Amino acid sequence: IHNVIFSSSDEASICVAHEIADLIKSKQAKNEVCVLGLATGSSPIRVYEELVRMHKEEGLSFSNVVSFNLDEYYPMEKNSIHSYHYFMHEHLFNHIDIPAENVNIPSGTVSTEELHQYCIDYDLKINDYGGLDFQLLGIGRTGHIGFNEPGSHYNSGTRSITLDHITRVDAAPSFLGIDNVPKKAITMGIGTVKKAKRIVLLGWGANKASILKETIEGEISSEVPATYLQEHHNTTFVINKEASEELT
Ligand code: F6R
Repeated sequence: IHNVIFSSSDEASICVAHEIADLIKSKQAKNEVCVLGLATGSSPIRVYEELVRMHKEEGLSFSNVVSFNLDEYYPMEKNSIHSYHYFMHEHLFNHIDIPAENVNIPSGTVSTEELHQYCIDYDLKINDYGGLDFQLLGIGRTGHIGFNEPGSHYNSGTRSITLDHITRVDAAPSFLGIDNVPKKAITMGIGTVKKAKRIVLLGWGANKASILKETIEGEISSEVPATYLQEHHNTTFVINKEASEELT
């Protein structure tokens, strides 16, 4: 793995957006689909903004893009303002030309009986497309990537999980209280993410500094699931100065 430290998250996000755009264009030139793994949360917002700008101002087309989002709360209605389905459409999909049928986001409305098979099928669908060409990640204070909380197996697939208390505390403000934060979620697995050909993890701000130190410099352990990325051959941590402050 390697880290790139930018003085601002803005500059860093634009750089990542350009890598994604270049990948999409190189796939277009070969008449291939580009399979993107996407994240929600505050970290990637500026990346999506830049991709939207490139679509509107530079004609970047997403017609050959197939996307798979990392996670969704469970249960969760698609049209809820708290859903990751809503987030992705607000920040990206409503503003670009990705075909609606190419968008995959774990559904927070599948029945508990269907959930297990649904998750297996999500991974199979990624495999059917030849795997993820690029996976964008953020990181939670627990060391989660997607919603792979501490204890997640390095080879885990897409599945339902119980959210860590710290994760629910961090989500509480936007839900107007922790009691409103779902206790469960569906997440791509560590194994799913690690099969991506390229991974970029974004980390901004001082509140990510200590978990980034553990992730980048700590021992590989299920206690900090993001440490599994140390074993991935093509991962870059793109972080800003504040987030890098505890690195040696
Ligand atoms: C979101 C996701 C999470 C977030 C992480 C950081 O799809 O998978 O792992 O990336 O919780 O969230 P922010 O970016 O809001 O700090």
